[in-house]
Amino acid sequence: MKLAGTMNINNRQHLEIGGCDTVDLARKYGTPLYVMDEELLRENCRRYSNALKNSYSLGKIIYAGKAFLVRAMASLVNEEGLGMDVVSGGELYTALKAGFPSENLYFHGNNKSTSELTEALQSGVGRIVVDSLPELQELAQLTKEYNRKTSLFLRIKPGIEAHTHDYIQTGQDDSKFGFGFSDAMEAVRLALASAPYLELKGFHCHIGSQIFQLEPFRLAAGVMLKFMSDVRAKTGFVAAELDIGGGLGIRYEKDDNPPSIESFVENIASAVREAAERENFPLPELLLEPGRSITGEAGITLYRVGIIKDIPGVRRYVAVDGGMMDNIRPALYQASYEALLANKASQEPVEKVTIAGKACESGDILIENALIPQAEKDDLLAVFSTGAYCYSMASNYNRNPRPAVVFVKNGESRIVVRREKYEDLIALDE
Ligand code: LLP
Repeated sequence: MKLAGTMNINNRQHLEIGGCDTVDLARKYGTPLYVMDEELLRENCRRYSNALKNSYSLGKIIYAGKAFLVRAMASLVNEEGLGMDVVSGGELYTALKAGFPSENLYFHGNNKSTSELTEALQSGVGRIVVDSLPELQELAQLTKEYNRKTSLFLRIKPGIEAHTHDYIQTGQDDSKFGFGFSDAMEAVRLALASAPYLELKGFHCHIGSQIFQLEPFRLAAGVMLKFMSDVRAKTGFVAAELDIGGGLGIRYEKDDNPPSIESFVENIASAVREAAERENFPLPELLLEPGRSITGEAGITLYRVGIIKDIPGVRRYVAVDGGMMDNIRPALYQASYEALLANKASQEPVEKVTIAGKACESGDILIENALIPQAEKDDLLAVFSTGAYCYSMASNYNRNPRPAVVFVKNGESRIVVRREKYEDLIALDE
């Protein structure tokens, strides 16, 4: 395993992150524990901003909060000068409570409720990313009712769908998100007719997540520019902004080899420039919405090893004190992870084991074939690349309290989410 960010193995032979010994962190805060490398979070934000600055004239990086959002993260994103994408009233609330400037918020969602739209309008978010005609109609009505103008994007299905190692181009995209091209033209007309309450700024698309190829992004950029040029021809509207969404993959396993942040940004920037030239279209402001590639590799989860069970000739189960409630991704997406024993970090791996969670569910397996040193009860297991879509998708299944989250940096650790207590579990029960 290549250790990301500030991680290394210290002279106690323990895994260290942000200058903090993970054995000490586990003792201080308990397990399971999400640990985030603050320096790597900040570095990833800066790499994105710098790459965009260096490869394109005008643009903005929008962090996709769904990957990991708590108040401390919102503050960090704001300090680093990024905008943020929120997809629910709850994410909007979290961002605002962290003092995130509302004009830098981009409000997404395929089924925003009336109250969510109202909250977005009243807080004055920068852009509402409209996903359907009924939403656009409702928004036109609400803006008049509250006498509040709003700027918006329309989310378009570019007919390209991408996954880790593969992508497809489809004419008619079967997706619950966004407008097809013909509906989009109608939406553009309605949005333009609803000025000045609605101010159409441009278009958005998002082709998928954990993507390792750059070609689908380049294709999407070309398709979007072509569409913008069609819109100009049919309606006279010249879009000033183009948001290409997120999706860059990260390294979960040692053989994963995602493109760098820089080549991702440069490729999209050059594809947009080339397409704009082809279409003779003025260069739009370019927005990107990375989530996973900012937080994913910056996070690890620490677990305490409990029961070890041998099934002779079949496998050895090493059970830990968390599981699908703090990381649903293996069960939901068959996602693979790598781990090491943090208290035996320099020992050679000697056995292939199955890391099981503690949930009452046979499918609660965190890692199918983990290569680790001889595991014993009370060892500390560190699972890598858990900084995205783990805490944000965590549950209280089996009434397990959700873990704490700590940020570490320069040898200091700070709690950003406290561990849930049993009382929290019944706090909402009437
Ligand atoms: N923008 C939009 C509109 C999105 O829907 C998403 C992710 C992003 C940006 C950020 O994409 P990223 O850079 O993180 O790939 N729960 C799944 C991932 C779902 C992604 C949903 N949308 C997982 O754990 O793999």
